[in-house]
Amino acid sequence: MTEEDAKDSDSINNRAIVEEICKPFLLSDDTYQQIRDIFLDEIKKGLCKYTHEKAAVKCLLTFVEKLPSGCERGKYLALDVGGTNFRILLLDLHDGGDNLKLEIANYELPESLLTASGRELFDFLADCLYAFIYKYELQKDELSLGFTFSFPLKQTELSKGVLISWTKAFNCSGVVGHDVVDLLKEALNRKGDIQINNIVILNDTTGTLISCAWEHHEAKIGLIIGTGINECYLEKTKYIELFKGGVNASPTMVINCESGNFGNDGSLNFIRTPIDLAIDNDTVNPGKQVYEKMISGMYLGEIVRLILLECVNAGAMLKGGHSDQIRSPMSFDIKYMSQIEGEEPGNDDVARQIFDIMGYKRSTHEDCENLRYICDVISTRSANLVAATLATLVNRIGDPFVIIGVDGSVYRMYPNYAERLRKKLKELARPEYKFCIKLAEDGSGRGAALLAATAFFNKRNQ
Ligand code: BGC
Repeated sequence: MTEEDAKDSDSINNRAIVEEICKPFLLSDDTYQQIRDIFLDEIKKGLCKYTHEKAAVKCLLTFVEKLPSGCERGKYLALDVGGTNFRILLLDLHDGGDNLKLEIANYELPESLLTASGRELFDFLADCLYAFIYKYELQKDELSLGFTFSFPLKQTELSKGVLISWTKAFNCSGVVGHDVVDLLKEALNRKGDIQINNIVILNDTTGTLISCAWEHHEAKIGLIIGTGINECYLEKTKYIELFKGGVNASPTMVINCESGNFGNDGSLNFIRTPIDLAIDNDTVNPGKQVYEKMISGMYLGEIVRLILLECVNAGAMLKGGHSDQIRSPMSFDIKYMSQIEGEEPGNDDVARQIFDIMGYKRSTHEDCENLRYICDVISTRSANLVAATLATLVNRIGDPFVIIGVDGSVYRMYPNYAERLRKKLKELARPEYKFCIKLAEDGSGRGAALLAATAFFNKRNQ
């Protein structure tokens, strides 16, 4: 055997090992169908008054019973909190051609606030809101605000939301079990002269759906795939057993599925790999948000890192060498995955740079190809898993045509993600139900201001 032949044969063996390590992440069509069907059972458990309390997929009431009509006018604020970046928006709805104007300010939450006290978190939000209101000289106006708070909330009305649990990297003390609208109002009161009496609270998926429904009446599903993952949809109130609507109740209400929690009761154990279990173990909320931890931007890079580590341990990549970075949890960011998958096949420049950042100066073409393969497997599993639960919702709504409003960094920025999701959803939804997935950029904030408009426009004009 020549030296070249030996290299080729090593290469083939190494690739076989990498593929073997990735195998548990490649799920069959039957498995995705099974997940779709299990999710339907979970939705039913969430909606049923006898099983709701224990249900993994909570199907939370949002009290959003109607979507904007398009007739709303005036200025409305939104505060959109759900990750390390948050936003304040001012929406101006007026007559005439382009009847919707938005001013947006982006802020970064200092990382230390993610695990600080709730009081510190809300004081920070109130400071930013206060500065924004003065900047736009709104301090004398009667202000209405849509507050997007992208965590599981138990709502009893449109303007009350009690935090059930933190998700993503948040864990501020003194917030779980409290109404976050009250916490925001208290923080604003501590600041002094600004009063916002009209506040509605909502989830980012709901905001995205509302924002999309402003333009498209067929919009009935909201989806976020970013740091976290979640879906909401328009359900018939007759199936929402926890809702005591009375005679004037609207026939539908937006339900916040809190899909990220799917699998907490063991229903997804048949697809969880040892790496999924290890990641879960190392989070601030072990045992929770099982589905989210296989899908969302916060975890995908870490899954890739752990697979890479296994390949290195098996001697199949990077000559079996361990760098400090490869050993450090959360060192492989999802943005590296995006960059690698965004590079032209056959070109290794980006992958090599990333190996360099990960402490490997001498990666080979084969290492780069293998890394690209791992990223592809993991991002495809993520998109397919989302498609499975989306298919449940499309089938449940049962409209001949439905629009899905979507936002979130993974959907927006990850190369080919949107196309993979659409393709799998087409396979999994019943063929008689057509759908269209529409990007609702700024959806969660814009939707919040639109919800405030829907809720308070008539009140203001009475
Ligand atoms: C939260 C959801 C949110 C989703 C997307 C999840 O971690 O529990 O409420 O909609 O992230 O931001």
